[in-house]
Amino acid sequence: MERVCAAYFSPCGNVKAAAEAAGRAAADVLGLPFESVDFTLPGARTGDIAFGPGDVVILATPVYAGRVPNKLMPFIRDHIRGNGALCGAAVCFGNRAFDDALAELYMLARDNGFTVIGAAAIATEHSFAPALGTGRPDEADLAALREFGEALAKKAQKNGPALKTVPGAMPPEKYYTPLRADGTPARFLKAVPKTDMEKCTRCGTCARVCPMGSVDPADPAVTTGVCIKCQACIRLCPTGARTFDDGDFLSHRAMLEANYARRAESAFFL
Ligand SMILES: Cc1cc2nc3c(=O)[nH]c(=O)nc-3n(C[C@H](O)[C@H](O)[C@H](O)COP(=O)(O)O)c2cc1C
Repeated sequence: MERVCAAYFSPCGNVKAAAEAAGRAAADVLGLPFESVDFTLPGARTGDIAFGPGDVVILATPVYAGRVPNKLMPFIRDHIRGNGALCGAAVCFGNRAFDDALAELYMLARDNGFTVIGAAAIATEHSFAPALGTGRPDEADLAALREFGEALAKKAQKNGPALKTVPGAMPPEKYYTPLRADGTPARFLKAVPKTDMEKCTRCGTCARVCPMGSVDPADPAVTTGVCIKCQACIRLCPTGARTFDDGDFLSHRAMLEANYARRAESAFFL
């Protein structure tokens, strides 16, 4: 073994924090260098990302609608190559549920030449309902992630067997339908953030951090492509100029806050 990597898509930073905590702990146990491979931004997704038999890779994404984010899945399927690398597949979910996302990521990794020896579904703060899982991963979560990384490393050292399965439908079955507060389906697929031009300083942060490259750098009020509601532009705007005011979106957030306030547990599989 030569190196431990955390390879992740992480618009708001939770997945990065979780994957790096586990990856660094694994690297410490193995006495190997640690590297982050961040494929959040479009510029990092222009070609293949190839690993090799000397790599141990924590491959990590958020859960969107109970699955691997659908706009990202084709990139993972077509461009992330294991070439015999060992893998810990990890998804972060915002305190509701991970549904079929872990199963989907497990299958993508396995089918792309990784030997998946561990998997994790990690409860984190919800990017668009931050009252859920507020502040997570917290100290207890990071300790659990380090433990997972250490156990993964020990399994790698012993040439431990591949995981046969993880929870969730294989192949994954459907996407979670977001609901309004009244229990009816919430339709906000086409919603985009609004920009308050009185507050906007045209610093360009929103355009820089958009994982879909969908904000016009010359005019942040213009959405040029798809919006995946990841919240990166909203959270990272230094003046708080960006907001979502779509009624269905806000109603879904209220539904989540009313029903998923309890502390969700993370799950680890080795
Ligand atoms: C569009 C979207 C859909 C989401 N769907 C779910 C979900 O189905 N279940 C859940 O528990 N969390 C869900 N989340 C919350 C994220 O999985 C969670 O906040 C994650 O930590 C975000 O990762 P990041 O901070 O690296 O961007 C969703 C978030 C977004 C933006």
